[in-house]
Amino acid sequence: MAASDALVAAARAAFDRAIADYSHFKVGAALETADRRIITGCNIENASYGLTMCAERVAMFKALSEGHRVFQRIVIVADTHTPTPPCGACRQILWEFAGDVEVVLANLTGVAATHMMRDLLPHAFDRKFLG
Ligand code: THU
Repeated sequence: MAASDALVAAARAAFDRAIADYSHFKVGAALETADRRIITGCNIENASYGLTMCAERVAMFKALSEGHRVFQRIVIVADTHTPTPPCGACRQILWEFAGDVEVVLANLTGVAATHMMRDLLPHAFDRKFLG
């Protein structure tokens, strides 16, 4: 199933709330849970730079902390012509907690691409290696 307009709109609204004073690169994310709830996140930067947190992980950590455990897709919005894919750290976190969900990449004018997590993080390290 495709990402709903509401999910894309929620990611765009989160994009507007990004705190990106240093890079000026705003990102918004909207996670959809199995019961179709929407949890958003935006990137949050910090003067130390290294403490910056990406939009996708903000959304996921918010969702987990609110008790959500099963997800269907995530929409990621940035103001780029070529859609912005999740960074490596976010892919690892999304794989761990969302699994093989749809990753929908959009900019401010529309949805540009949809990928499955298994294609974005092949040969993933995860709990199955831990015995
Ligand atoms: N950023 C995200 O929020 N998500 C990504 O997947 C890529 C990068 C943020 C982190 C930083 O605040 C800014 O974009 C520039 O790297």
